[in-house]
Amino acid sequence: MSDAELPDAWLARDPLPEEPCAIVERWLGEAFEAGLQANPHAVALATVDPDGRPSARTVLCNRVDAERGDFVIFTNRESRKGRAIRANPRAAIVFHFAPQNRSVRVEGRVAFTPDDECDAYFATRPLDARVGAWASAQSEPIESRAALVEKVHAEAERFGVTLDGSSDADIPRPPHWGGFTLTADVVELWASRPARIHDRAQWSRSPVADGGWSSWSVRRLQP
Ligand SMILES: Cc1cc2nc3c(=O)[nH]c(=O)nc-3n(C[C@H](O)[C@H](O)[C@H](O)COP(=O)(O)O)c2cc1C
Repeated sequence: MSDAELPDAWLARDPLPEEPCAIVERWLGEAFEAGLQANPHAVALATVDPDGRPSARTVLCNRVDAERGDFVIFTNRESRKGRAIRANPRAAIVFHFAPQNRSVRVEGRVAFTPDDECDAYFATRPLDARVGAWASAQSEPIESRAALVEKVHAEAERFGVTLDGSSDADIPRPPHWGGFTLTADVVELWASRPARIHDRAQWSRSPVADGGWSSWSVRRLQP
């Protein structure tokens, strides 16, 4: 196979591309277009608890802003991950595009996503998800499934809706629910190659005085 025919030719060549996030956006788009994977935007999100203990869980990366290097996830900000991020605002995510045999690692600092974006996204969620966001104290224990179902029905009643698909209402975004925006300072792309001579490239950048970022520097890593 000639270099030009490789699916990820830009990772096989030297010099490597100057910046990674447009490639991430493209890989994500290709994963959606291929339609071979449920939730191609599912990522493992790793955080570190206040006592230094790492934890990881699956979440959806709802938006990638390639220009800024931003990756947005929505969740309960009082959850275990939310408490970890608020105490230690750094995180890492990993995408795995299994059908394409590609992976993306992102590391960086995390900030609250602006309220207007959180409100706009919350309003697009199905009714049961909006009611559920009020009902679930995410990551807290509960004595039984019946108690959980009861909490959901109590919230539905409070908003004057039923969850059988026959009603809808404007449900405000709960104060504990919102986005975290991970702004990348390290991005690694991995692409499978024959004979396990895989391509790995890692980009990094640093904050600069005016609140912006240095340009990306890139190095090839051994697989
Ligand atoms: C495919 C998939 C997508 C998920 N997406 C989200 C999400 O976008 N936000 C979220 O809070 N939890 C999501 N979850 C649930 C999380 O994995 C996790 O159970 C929850 O966020 C609580 O994690 P925590 O206790 O570490 O905070 C998802 C789970 C799966 C399997």
